[in-house]
Amino acid sequence: MNLSDLQSSLALVIQNASSAFETARNEAELNQIKGAFVGKTGPLADAMKGMGQVPPAERAAFGQVVNDARQQIDALLEGQRERLRFAARQARLDAVRRDLSLPPRGPIVGAQHPLSRVEDDMLRVFEELGYAAAGGPQVETDFHNFEALNFPPDHPARDMQDTFMVGGGRLLRTHTSPVQIRTLLAYKPPVRIAAPGPVYRCDTPDMTHSPNFRQVEGLVIDRNVTMVHLKGTLREFASRLFGRELNVRFRPSFFPFTEPSVEVDVECPFCTTGCRTCKGSRWIEILGAGMVDPAVIEAVGLNPDEWQGFAFGIGVERVAMLRYGVDDIRLFYENDVRFLAQFPA
Ligand code: PHE
Repeated sequence: MNLSDLQSSLALVIQNASSAFETARNEAELNQIKGAFVGKTGPLADAMKGMGQVPPAERAAFGQVVNDARQQIDALLEGQRERLRFAARQARLDAVRRDLSLPPRGPIVGAQHPLSRVEDDMLRVFEELGYAAAGGPQVETDFHNFEALNFPPDHPARDMQDTFMVGGGRLLRTHTSPVQIRTLLAYKPPVRIAAPGPVYRCDTPDMTHSPNFRQVEGLVIDRNVTMVHLKGTLREFASRLFGRELNVRFRPSFFPFTEPSVEVDVECPFCTTGCRTCKGSRWIEILGAGMVDPAVIEAVGLNPDEWQGFAFGIGVERVAMLRYGVDDIRLFYENDVRFLAQFPA
């Protein structure tokens, strides 16, 4: 075979390789096809084997021609390989559904928990009325939670049915009233404090009970404090909290640490003639209160003839349920976003 025959036969091989490569639908197929051209039995290998018959003087030129052909086939192969890779990547991307007309997802905006909001509102009102914020531990002593508050030793509230005992003579406070004792042991009167916080009672949860709820305690100790001050204070508190002039009324009640003791009803803030919330009565019970019992004044080492005062305890959940029309207390603790999202900031 002379040089020009070799050149034209290799040109044909290159042409065949080019159209064969183009039929490959993926890299695997391409690798199979390429064997027929560049493999050990392909036309290029044959050409190299024929080299023995070529006169030595022409071998270099022959070798050059075969090498050129090999390089061209390699280039075709690489080009085809690139195209197949690109197409595969494109196909993967096309498989992902995209809708460029969709609006972007908006930011998720948080909000204050309804209980915190109601409690903050109450504390703001007491701050306006000149009360200082106070607090105390949730794990209390029997002395602060019961004894100093004039609970008799056999009072049912001291029973384990009602109180979570934590050992070592300690218990989870059943109300915020022990803050009265802590405050009076730490500060000289006159005092005027509002003390928010969690309290615990061994209750089975239902629509209106939770073993853990919140109270805001109020305490005023001064000279010549009377029940009129208590009533005026609560009337002002209710009016400011609900943003509307509201009357309050007292019904006789009993607490060991107040005498006399009252349950306090507020005029219904949601109607003028009766509604579902006040069950048509125009009055809603929102708290317990009373004049601080002289026995409590004495328990903290003060003279009851010199110092008097009043105290009250407000259930935060109760006020929040009224304000927002929530009928199940447990909703406040489940942190279901569908519930919480109904109280935007
Ligand atoms: N501590 C009482 C309770 O938890 C409420 C209360 C506080 C009553 C202060 C009178 C005075 O039920």
